[in-house]
Parts: sequence; C-alpha cells; structure tokens
Amino acid sequence: MSFDLSVIPNKNIVLAVTGGIAAYKSAILVRRLKDVGFNVRVVMTQGAQAFITPLTFQALSGNPVHTELLNPEAEAGMGHIELARWADLLLVAPASCNTLAKFAAGLADDLLSTLYLATKSPVWVAPAMNQQMWAAKATQRNLNTLVQDGVHVIMPDAGSQACGDVGLGRMPEPEDLARQVTEYFHKAQRAIAEKFGMLAGKHVVVTAGPTREAMDPVRYISNHSTGKMGFALAAACYAAGAKVTLIAGPVSLDTPNGVRRMNVSSAVQMLDISMQMLDEGCDIFIATAAVADYRVAEVAEHKIKKAGDELNVSLIKNPDIVATIAQQQKRPFMVGFAAETRNVEEYAAGKLVAKKLDMIACNDVSRADIGFASDENAMIVFFAEQYHMQKRDLEKASKQEIAQQLVEAIHDALHHEIEPV
Ligand code: C5P
Repeated sequence: MSFDLSVIPNKNIVLAVTGGIAAYKSAILVRRLKDVGFNVRVVMTQGAQAFITPLTFQALSGNPVHTELLNPEAEAGMGHIELARWADLLLVAPASCNTLAKFAAGLADDLLSTLYLATKSPVWVAPAMNQQMWAAKATQRNLNTLVQDGVHVIMPDAGSQACGDVGLGRMPEPEDLARQVTEYFHKAQRAIAEKFGMLAGKHVVVTAGPTREAMDPVRYISNHSTGKMGFALAAACYAAGAKVTLIAGPVSLDTPNGVRRMNVSSAVQMLDISMQMLDEGCDIFIATAAVADYRVAEVAEHKIKKAGDELNVSLIKNPDIVATIAQQQKRPFMVGFAAETRNVEEYAAGKLVAKKLDMIACNDVSRADIGFASDENAMIVFFAEQYHMQKRDLEKASKQEIAQQLVEAIHDALHHEIEPV
C-alpha cells in the first residue's frame, strides 16, 4: 500500500522519552508527528532529562512536558490518569532497558511506569541501547514478557552506536517511526470505514481528467480538464469505505491513498477499461471525465508535414462512455457531471434523462471562481425522477468538501425507496 502523509486529525500521542543518547532523535520525532497532524504530549523520565531538556520538547510539542508523578502543580494541569486516558497511543522512544524492565515487572514508581499501567491505549516501545545490553538475557526476557502482554516492539536497527560498538540497538530514524505510527492509524481508520463507512462494501469506478485524441504520432486534440474533482471524489469514496478504481486520462496528480488507478489516453480506451470494470463488478459509476466529443477519423501513421495554407482534419464522434454503461443490463448506480455556461439546471436535467443517469452534478463553468482548474467548486445535484428526491445545492467549497457531499448524496439515493421504472 502506498504511504500517504495525509493529515490524521485529532489523534493523541503520548511520546515517552527515556534515558539514552537516542533521546535527541525524539525531538525530531515530535516534529514529524506534528507534521502529520497528531497532538503530541511528551513525558520524560529522570534519565531522559540528563540527555535533553524538557524545554526542547515543550517548544516542539506546544504542550507542557510531564516529568513528575507526585507534583501537585503538574497534576493540577493534566494528572497522570487524565494523561493515560488522553492517549490514543503511548509511544516510548527511546525505551531504555531499565524502562522495559519496569514495564515487565509492573512497577509504578515514576510517572511513565504508572502511565503504562494506567492506560488502555496501545503501547509501542522503540528500544535503543548498547548492543550488549540489548542482547542480555534479562532484556530479551523482559521484551518477551512485554510482547505477551500485548506491547508492540519496534525492532532496533543495526549499525554503529554512539558508544563505538557496532550491532543491534540503534533507534530507527524519526521519519521511519512517524511513518509506522501514521500507517497504524490509517489502517485502523480503514478498518472502521470498511465496516461502517457510507460506501462500505461497494466498488466505485471513477473516470477523471481529459482524454487525448491523437492526430498523428506527435499531436493530439484535448481539453483543459485537470482531473481534480474526479481525484477528490475517488479519495472521498475510499474514505467512505469503498474499493475504488480511478480511470484517469492524462493528468499530473498523485494517486489518492488506497485507490487503484488505471491510466488511459483516448476516449475509446476509457470506454474499454470502463466495460472491463463492469465485468469485474461495479456498484457505482461516477463519470467526471471531460471526454473529447470527437476523435480524428484517421490517425496519420507518420507526423503530418506542413504543406498548404489549410489543413482539413475530419473528426468522428466518440462513444458516450457514461451513456453506454448506463445502457448495460447489469448497470451500476450512475452519476454524471455537467459543466455548462448557461441554462445550467435545464441542460443538466436534460442530460440526466437522456443518458439514463441516477444522479447528475452540474456546475456553471462560466463563473471564474469555480470549476476546471480551480480548487473550489459549487454544484447543484439532481436525482432521477423515480428517487423522488429534492435537488441539492452544494455551496462553494473546496473540491474535497464537495466530494464528501456528493458521497453523502450517493449514499442517500442508494438508501432511498425508489419506484420501479
Ligand atoms: O454530454 P456531456 O459531455 O456534457 O456530458 C457530461 C457527462 O457525460 C460527464 O459525466 C462525462 O464524464 C460524461 N461523458 C462520457 N462520455 C462522453 C462524453 C461525456 O462519459 N463521450
């Protein structure tokens, strides 16, 4: 699965720093976790404070640092039980062999060991120590106990150590730790979406971007579509728990996390892949692509040479992808888009009927502030008559927010009683 550093909102990490030279790496780890959007609170043991100051972590995390168990002043801010409840993850990095031993024995003689016993959240430890201490039987025995107790151990890296030794015991780089933590929350989020998301269990196919219709090996006819709306929709459908296939014309956008992307160039290719998706089993088909209406009748085998003052190129009509899919016997729920410059609602409602769609989202591309290359959009959504659903006005918002509202509209229509046609 590709790793996406998209922001994880409102997840709380208690980062516990214990005594070891790797503590300096934890300062950078705080930055990387904050970059992803985590709320971070730092706990330091006595040993950690010999290597790095609480002030460093306070500045980086934007929160007071917790160092004492029995300090009335600190407990008045956020007491240890509150902190234990606040955490969605307790990450101990670096974890010294002393801390591992305390955890394994169930001691509660300082803030961190008490937190460990008091929290219900998952606990991750990133041991970092001299290679001989890592290999020591007692350390390995304690680690085994912790694994049996459900603690996740991030294995140390091998390499040269600050003490001059070479071997296992280096704390992984902060970027790597932040990536592992982020992936963990992404996976957890995905599992919930797949079970309870608005489009859980559905296969959604989205067409996006322009198509390119070749004239000769070096020239083509195309349009200015950027694919942004389609890509935002693919991401929103995935977040809603669906399996998503994105059939993309030539655009320069990154594939959204978790989405299967199939690149195409021409309208005919886009239709071919769309039909394949139908065979695979497709529940919802969303056509955002700005498909070229015409293609060149005869594509020249070699580059067309400059000749007279005029060049006549004959064009023939491309297949209408969304209308073709809508005509199939096992048709998915069909969503179309309409970009108009005038009589927006009237034309869109006409296309809804003509192309046999279930839903159409239309926008006024004559407005300079929304549409094509813009990051924002505003739309009106119509549903086919048999749904008996009111049209919806989606006010100007980011394409991500509009995509989310379109997912809601699809979900509502799918759960609406419809009259058979
Ligand atoms: O007819 P018009 O191009 O305005 O219709 C727009 C809708 O139809 C969009 O959903 C677009 O993706 C889809 N379409 C298509 N194949 C075409 C032309 C349009 O799927 N050849």
